[in-house]
Amino acid sequence: MSNGRRVFIAGGALSSFTGKGHPDFIWKRHPDFGTRKNPSMEELLQGVVDEAITETGLNPEDVDRLYIGNFVGELFCNQGHMGAALVGTHPAFANKPSARLEGACASGGLAFLAGVDAIAAGEDTILVAGVEVQTTQSARVGADYLARASHYRRQRGLDEFTFPALFARRTQAYRAAFGVTEEEIGHVAVKAYGNANKNPKAHMVAKKMSIEVACSVNERNPCFLANEALHPFIKMSDCSQVSDGAAALVLVSEAGLKKLGLTEADCVEVAGVGHSVSSLYVDGDLTQLSTTANAVAKAYKAAGITASDVDLAEVHDCFTVTELMMVEALGLAKLGQGAALTKDGATAIDGSTPVNTGGGLIGFGHPVGATGIKQPLEIFRQMKGKCGDYQVSGALKWGITANMGGDDKTVVSLAIKNLS
Ligand code: CAA
Repeated sequence: MSNGRRVFIAGGALSSFTGKGHPDFIWKRHPDFGTRKNPSMEELLQGVVDEAITETGLNPEDVDRLYIGNFVGELFCNQGHMGAALVGTHPAFANKPSARLEGACASGGLAFLAGVDAIAAGEDTILVAGVEVQTTQSARVGADYLARASHYRRQRGLDEFTFPALFARRTQAYRAAFGVTEEEIGHVAVKAYGNANKNPKAHMVAKKMSIEVACSVNERNPCFLANEALHPFIKMSDCSQVSDGAAALVLVSEAGLKKLGLTEADCVEVAGVGHSVSSLYVDGDLTQLSTTANAVAKAYKAAGITASDVDLAEVHDCFTVTELMMVEALGLAKLGQGAALTKDGATAIDGSTPVNTGGGLIGFGHPVGATGIKQPLEIFRQMKGKCGDYQVSGALKWGITANMGGDDKTVVSLAIKNLS
């Protein structure tokens, strides 16, 4: 990393990601309705910070700075000013520098980068977190809030479900350009739900998905857009979840590592980062994620690796087609060939390059501000053999992440090296 100062992930914690469809999620027909509430944003954040401190053996006094990713707490929870909320999770954090980062669904990724920059600038121990609670509103109202990640004035009119519509538009373009079928795209959903079924923290831990369901339109899997032209190109099974959740991790320098009493083998190294942003006002080629490809190329270059070195990846599958475009942006497949890679099982847990082993945004869930922290933490957990039933077998040396805000607008990519 810059200044020759190395950056390590020492560990961290994830809450369960929950929402509609999760067995513990309280709604009016849940047996616990009226006796138990879903966790608040404050409770989720507190839980992951406490657990991250225990997991890593962190002395809270040693934290030099804190950063948190959150997209629209003001809208879903009437709560902004999240830097101060993070400080509120432990008395020892009082008066330390802390800030909230916002870049739509890449908010967590930006908080992580702020931590990396702080270490490059001379700090030794940084706490980074991400949180979002979205189930305080219906999916339709939530879609309006999430549409703030698009160019609202220009794109909100596309459909009340603006983001599903933006990616239906990409699905239409991708299928036309490369002759990819609905069935081929459906394999992304089958993999996502199948992986989530093995992951006790996943939003879709209990929901099954077969290729027949993923490819059929019916009462339980409707095409739900009102925009007639885009309507056929997205079904519920193609979408990421509206989830509540939080994640936190500890970033350290070499000196910070010593203070924790850990060795390099206990950690993973952030060997390269890429951060690319394209104009909110201009939409590029709908068949590929050019900003993502740019950020990933920077991360590879900084780490001195290429796509062929990658052992596993965590990518931003906000919709099924997005995962295909993501694996192409990573260079794991040529343009238009991501679907074949997925169908052949190459991105499965036991495939040559596992992608989104815990279920991704579709299966694990997508509490927006937490996603960009969850991704590197999942790479860490896989590399350290902590993933239980969805553990990848064999040695894992290189991992790559791609966390995307908006429609390929703000992208953070991390190249992560296992040191054990
Ligand atoms: N037939 C026809 N239409 C139906 C239907 C049926 N059987 N069932 C439901 N619908 C329609 C209805 O119009 C319904 O809306 P209303 O109830 O308000 O009329 C709509 O579908 C949604 O139905 P539900 O509210 O019952 O669905 P849900 O709560 O299960 O949500 C979902 C499903 C809409 C797909 C929701 O999960 C969703 O919005 N997912 C995407 C979330 C998203 O966009 N996240 C951001 C990703 S983009 C990104 O990551 C980048 C960034 O920066 C933002």
